[in-house]
Amino acid sequence: MLANDNKNYGLISKLLHWAIALAIFGLLGLGIYMEGLEKANPDRQGIYALHKAVGSLVLFFAAFRIVWNRVSPAPALPDALQGFERILPKVIVGLLYLLMLATPFMGIMMTQLYGMPVNIFDFFQLPTLVAKNKELAETVRELHGILAWTMLTLIVLHLLGAVKHRIKNRGGETDILGRML
Ligand code: HEM
Repeated sequence: MLANDNKNYGLISKLLHWAIALAIFGLLGLGIYMEGLEKANPDRQGIYALHKAVGSLVLFFAAFRIVWNRVSPAPALPDALQGFERILPKVIVGLLYLLMLATPFMGIMMTQLYGMPVNIFDFFQLPTLVAKNKELAETVRELHGILAWTMLTLIVLHLLGAVKHRIKNRGGETDILGRML
């Protein structure tokens, strides 16, 4: 029940999947909203702090999920999925894992390169890994944005794949959305 079996995802993978998905949707929305805030807005600092803290937690939980996948491997794709339909979802999920690590990592690097600490709410401050460098911070800031938008594109493709199989083959072998619900 907690672990995955060869047909279904277990509770731990399901909780991690949906908590991370929810956090990423929130972070994408918050990120876009934040960019438009006036410097004088009294809520700005709190919103940035929330984005940074939740984003850092995504990095932690994504790393945990990668370890968990080794401990309890995900159920295989059904044999009915062959060729392109088998390779594409694997490539998309692989890239999403990469981006779930790289996007928040770049956010942390950007913040530290601007010379600011990253606090996980009021509990914990991440260790400083890089010295202040405003020029590099600007580049990493752009990279963070590009990675976040790439992630959104891949999430849309990932969703479209799941919805396509649900519509075309509801309840059939390739309707694998139910394994994660
Ligand atoms: C999965 C995790 C994350 C996602 C999906 C995400 C997403 C985004 C998005 C969509 C933007 C707006 C970018 C743009 O429109 O150019 C943004 C901006 C920003 N993010 Fe993240 N972010 C994540 C994690 C983090 C982390 C961990 C930090 C820092 C600790 C961080 C710090 C920032 C900052 C400071 C900005 C604003 C940059 C500016 O003022 O231009 N992000 N983020």
